[in-house]
This record gives sequence, structure tokens and C-alpha cells, in this order.
Amino acid sequence: MPVDGSFGVKGTTFDAPDLGQVRIREDALVVIDAEGSITQALESDDPGYAETEARLRREGSLTVLGEGQYLFPGFIDLHIHAPQWPQSGTALDVPLAEWLNTYTFPLEARYEDQRFARDVYGSLVESLLANGTTTAVYFATTHLPASRILADLCLQRGQRALVGRVAMDSPETCPDFYRDPSARAAIEDTRALIDYVNGLPGNSGLVRPIVTPRFVPSCTDELLGGLGDVVGETGAHVQTHCSESDWAHGYGLERFGRTDTATYDAFGLLTRRTVLAHSNLITLDDMDTIVAAGAAVAHCPLSNAYFANAVFPLRESLDRGLHVGLGTDISGGPATSIRRTMTDAVVASRMREDGVDATVDPSRRGVAGSRVTLAEAFWMATTGGGVALDLPVGLLSPGYAFDAMIIDTKVEDSDLLLWPSLDTGSDVFEKSMHHATRRNVVRVWVQGSEVRSVTGR
Ligand code: GUN
Ligand code: FE
Repeated sequence: MPVDGSFGVKGTTFDAPDLGQVRIREDALVVIDAEGSITQALESDDPGYAETEARLRREGSLTVLGEGQYLFPGFIDLHIHAPQWPQSGTALDVPLAEWLNTYTFPLEARYEDQRFARDVYGSLVESLLANGTTTAVYFATTHLPASRILADLCLQRGQRALVGRVAMDSPETCPDFYRDPSARAAIEDTRALIDYVNGLPGNSGLVRPIVTPRFVPSCTDELLGGLGDVVGETGAHVQTHCSESDWAHGYGLERFGRTDTATYDAFGLLTRRTVLAHSNLITLDDMDTIVAAGAAVAHCPLSNAYFANAVFPLRESLDRGLHVGLGTDISGGPATSIRRTMTDAVVASRMREDGVDATVDPSRRGVAGSRVTLAEAFWMATTGGGVALDLPVGLLSPGYAFDAMIIDTKVEDSDLLLWPSLDTGSDVFEKSMHHATRRNVVRVWVQGSEVRSVTGR
């Protein structure tokens, strides 16, 4: 092993420095320092390539990708409800408000039980890592002890994570069995989780706290204002749901006479480090407000098909420079992988472009120019997620954390098949993003630490 703890990975890499373009580097040499940050990403004609490769080999610290293996940045999932993991794939038959009351609040209330929390959260972190999700942004529940357990598990397993203790105190929309007893109690617990996560032994920023008002309907003015103060004092990240469905959006409009975006802004909750989930019904003015704040949207296309009543205006948002990344929204979205979410984003945009009602004239059926490409979706799944969080993740470039995965196209029992005589580099990218499953994700690193390694060949 090298004296300084650095190591290298050599092989073909895919990442997306610019929206809409996939960078493909054959035989790239990525050098990572002892802190897990990328110091160099050399191509074979760069000066120093041969010497660096020789040194790493000599020191026994070079991983060379095998035939059919490719290096990708890890995925960034901007929106996950950790406690909803046990109902992923079920409970998709009713609209949002009914879904919350019938299925979701009763399930989330169970996290009073810390053993149940440990069991579920351990399983979720493992599954996400296996799918290549190296950064996860989590809603936990209102329970402080269970929220701490989620942060502990992420740190132990080495997953980069933002963990939020959910705040929800409105007696009008939250049931008696699952509600913060007061705004003050919710604010105190929010501060307590921030202090706990920041003070976790061995945590040098891998796991971070995130202030989490559930959404406008579930929070009193006092709670929204108090959490805004916490954000102002601590500079912590923020996450919430924004203008998700006709009902949720309409509730905020009726209560405040303004959109959710304007409400969050008024309460000090719209910052450079805010992630607004969904945002399907935002207006063009809202987009300007979000762009001015430097805040981000977590686009969750699969969940939106069940709960949002409309398709998020993704093209317009990207074209305005609004920060957009992707979220599974487990369990509103019944899928675990952001790779799947990428293709869902493309499909939703194509259906929005063409429209859906065959009886309507094609000229008026859809929203012209709505489509996004797979390369744009890949940017959102990686680079865009990093931009949204204001963290140096998502790219295989110097200065970024080495959060990465190897996708192996030669594992057994896989539908990811290449025909080397036909497939170009860009074909390898498209096939990988359409067909890879967790079987193909054979090795995962977060901040330079290997967090998963399997052999599927
Ligand atoms: N709005 C408020 N809570 C939730 C939730 O848990 N999931 C989704 N999709 N929307 C919400
Ligand atoms: Fe959600």
C-alpha cells in the first residue's frame, strides 16, 4: 500500500460535466487521495499518465477495470422517505391526502419502536447502496430516536446522507396519533437532531442534518417560522414538499393566497441549500423565485404519475437554469434505483410533449418541446444532484469526492448485453442506463471508501 493512502482506478469512465452531454474517457486514470477526494483524472495522452500509473502499480494501489466494466459516478437520490420502505410497491390506489391518512401516517407512527426503525433503515441503506445510490436525502419521521438511528446507520455503512426529522404539527391535517405536540417541541427536536448529527463521532460531513417541514398543509405558521429561524442560524439544508398535487397546491393557495414557493420564501425556508420535492404545479414566477434563491427541485416522475395530477415542467425549469436533480420518493414512487428514475423522467417528458388524449388534434395534444434526453437525465442523477445540494459530488473530476460505482456488463443473468462489434461508447452508456440492475453494480465507493463489492461473473 502507498505510504500516503492514495489509490487509483483505471478504465473507461462516464460522467456529465455539462447538461446534455455525456463525457466518455477511455482508459482514464482517476487518482484519489487518502481523504477520498479525486486529485487527478488523467487521459492517456495527458502528461504524467504513464508515470502515475507506474507508481500506483508499484505501490499495489491501482484497480484496473476488467473487460466490460465501466466507472460511473454514484447516483444522488434527492428525495426518499426512509420509513415508507416497507410499503414500497404497495398502497398506490388512492390520491395523496387519502394515501397519507390511510397508509402512510399509520406506518410512520410505528417508528416509535426503535428496533423496527433499525431493522427497516438498515435494509433500506443496504438496498440503496446496492443500487449505486451514494448520496441519499432522507425524510425520517417525527421521532427523534429513530431519526438518530437512521443517521447512525448511514455513517456506519458509509453512505453520504442528509437526514431530516419530519416536522408536522397542524391538528387540521395531522392525526392525533402522529403529530408533533407543538411547534415548539418540533423546533426543539429539529435542533437536537442537527446537534446530534453534526456531533457524531467520526462524522466529518458524510452525514448531515436537514431541516424538514413535511409540507405546507401539515405545518402551522409558528412551525414554519421557527424552522426558518433555525435555518437562518445554522445554515442547514432544507427539504419539503412543494406544490405537489392539485389538493396540496390548492390548500396552500387558499390558506395563504400565494403559492408554496412564495410561502417557503416568506418563512426563510428557500435557500441555496433547499430541496423542494415534486413542484409539479409551480408557476413561471415560482421558477424565477427558486432560481433567485439558488434552491433546487427534486423531480420524482414515477411518484408524480400516481399522486401529482400533472407532469413537472422539467424542460422549462432546466432552460431557466433552475437546479433540478432526481428523487425516487420511496414509497410514493415504487422503485429503488435512480437509474430507473432517469428513464422515468425521459418517458414523462416525452408523454408531456406529445400529449395523452388521442381524440385531441396532435397540434394541441401536448406541450411542444418538453422532451429531455437520457444524457440530461444522467446529468440530473449525478452532477445536478450535487449542484442541488451544494456538495462536490456527482462528477469524476479533481476536487470532487470519489463517490462512484462499477457497472459490469458481463455478470451472469443480466439483460445488459453488449455487442462489441456494433456498440459505440454512447451505446454502452444508453444500454447501461436502460438495462443495468443491482446485479450489474458490482463495486461502490463513497468518499473513497469501498462500501460494497460483489462478484456476479
Ligand atoms: N406530501 C406530504 N407528505 C408526503 C409524502 O410522504 N409523500 C409524498 N409523495 N407527498 C407528501
Ligand atoms: Fe415525498
